[in-house]
Amino acid sequence: MTGANGSGASHPARYAQITGWASCVPEKVLTNEALARAVDTTDEWIVSHTGIRERHVVAGERETTAVLATRAGRDALLKAGLPPSQLDLIIVATATPEYVFPSTASLVQDALGAASAGAFDLSAGCSGFIYALTMGAAAVRSGTAEHVLLIGAETLSRITDWTDRNTCVLFGDGAGAVVVSACDARCGVLATELGSDGSGGELLILPAGGSRQPASLETVSNGGHFIKMNGREVYRFATTVMPKAAQNVTRKAGWELEDVSLFIPHQANTRIIESAAKRLSLPMDKFFVNLDKYGNTSAASIPIALAEAVAADRLHEGDKVVLVGFGAGLTWAAAAVEWGAPPPPTTKTWFGRLLARLGFVFAGLRSWMIRSERHAYNWVMGPVGKDNWRGRLRKRIDAWRHNLRQ
Ligand code: ACO
Repeated sequence: MTGANGSGASHPARYAQITGWASCVPEKVLTNEALARAVDTTDEWIVSHTGIRERHVVAGERETTAVLATRAGRDALLKAGLPPSQLDLIIVATATPEYVFPSTASLVQDALGAASAGAFDLSAGCSGFIYALTMGAAAVRSGTAEHVLLIGAETLSRITDWTDRNTCVLFGDGAGAVVVSACDARCGVLATELGSDGSGGELLILPAGGSRQPASLETVSNGGHFIKMNGREVYRFATTVMPKAAQNVTRKAGWELEDVSLFIPHQANTRIIESAAKRLSLPMDKFFVNLDKYGNTSAASIPIALAEAVAADRLHEGDKVVLVGFGAGLTWAAAAVEWGAPPPPTTKTWFGRLLARLGFVFAGLRSWMIRSERHAYNWVMGPVGKDNWRGRLRKRIDAWRHNLRQ
């Protein structure tokens, strides 16, 4: 994986271009005023200390990390004009996966009908999306993959202690996705920088629910399944690593800081972004900021901001962009991206778009049919290994089906 993480690319003629992008946030908006009615805080405090005015949060059981991730992934594929069947790999960066296992990425793979894609989740806190971009771009540049889908998706509202004013004002839910594809022209992800300092792990932690403190009545009653954060320490860490990572990745790409058209930082706190701009001696208008609308959406924040920056006409062919983030771990990450030519117009006609959308409907139906067939078969044939006529018949049919698949 040294190809994309640094300048030692083993396939210099092959690049990893971002060809599709999209974001998805839940409809429900939670304003500072609404929060101030629930905990001891004010709109004035939240805006002056963080820059956040509102955030989007999931509502009801049907809005989950996988649902948001699938919507963002689908729209990024539509933008790229790429059928899901051509994906080789899907990585979902998240701190709030649907389950511990199976991976959220596998659920997305099934929902999109990406039958040829490998899929896995990646945990690196808010730096997760850039970690995923690094892995995806490395896979493309090394020739392991032609097309990869990288998603940052979170439902942090599900692990937020809504009585803790130190944390509940900060976070929001959402997902962002990009498609990265192989190309010959020098563009796309040119350099990346990843870092970790695990000694700061306890500064930003979800203490319970893992193997160290499995879920129990005690972990639930003492709030162990909620985010715990030492805000001041994380702030100090962020203001140190963000400018350093941005500087390092710019140098690795062979650029000067002044060459960079746009910085897309992790959207945690305007003051952290302002501090980074000051340390880099750059004006704030070089930094894309949308955290006032979404709060900190962790691994989703950078791909959501990227999609919004394109929609706001802040990115053009040939522009040099630096993505930079920090988060739980503690981790940090940065990527230098040269914005490439727009994707080919395969889904520009209404008919092409209709066909592409029908493909996603079909993927959902296909998944439902496979599950239903599995349930029906198990119900009719009974459990495996029973020594009765149904058990013996099942053994024969299982063997026949197995041979058929070979
Ligand atoms: N409303 C009103 N008062 C509050 C609130 C609130 N929501 N939250 C804290 N306060 C109070 C504190 O109790 C404290 O009161 P005290 O002085 O009487 O003790 C006072 O405000 C100041 O508290 P500080 O912690 O010093 O506030 P600070 O200016 O540092 O801002 C903040 C706090 C916003 C959390 C800041 O430290 C920060 O942004 N840290 C980084 C957090 C971050 O980015 N986390 C995400 C990491 S990425 C990931 O992986 C999820």
